[in-house]
Amino acid sequence: MGAVSESRTVVAGAVIVNARLLLAQRAHPAELAGRWELPGGKVEPGEQDTTALVRELREELAIDVVVGDPVGADVDLGGGLVLRAYRVNVVSGTPAPLEHSALRWVDAAELHTIDLVAADRQWIPDLVALL
Ligand code: C5P
Repeated sequence: MGAVSESRTVVAGAVIVNARLLLAQRAHPAELAGRWELPGGKVEPGEQDTTALVRELREELAIDVVVGDPVGADVDLGGGLVLRAYRVNVVSGTPAPLEHSALRWVDAAELHTIDLVAADRQWIPDLVALL
């Protein structure tokens, strides 16, 4: 009821294997192209975060995951979007950049040197603690 401002959640996944974090390089939009992010996407209306993240990582990376605990704090993206990260475990598949320009695995030291999208930079301390 009513038009109380509702926020839309964007979920992102932290895939960590052998103390390395999977990052994906954005192909679009132009202002973000070339910068790196935790892969993910928008939760559809009525969809659970976990269901959305499983769907997005299947679409973007061709992997099946189980979603674990949240990572860090929610990030306000503006425009009614809230970004939330979760730890995920790969249960099948090998990540492939179906919608990104490239993928790479980074350790804690490399994470500090990567050109991450601004929102994801806020999670660096939380991610380093997991690596
Ligand atoms: O990937 P997509 O364009 O669906 O993401 C929706 C919004 O969430 C965009 O504004 C994008 O920049 C942002 N986003 C982000 N960090 C991520 C994933 C998405 O800031 N890891």
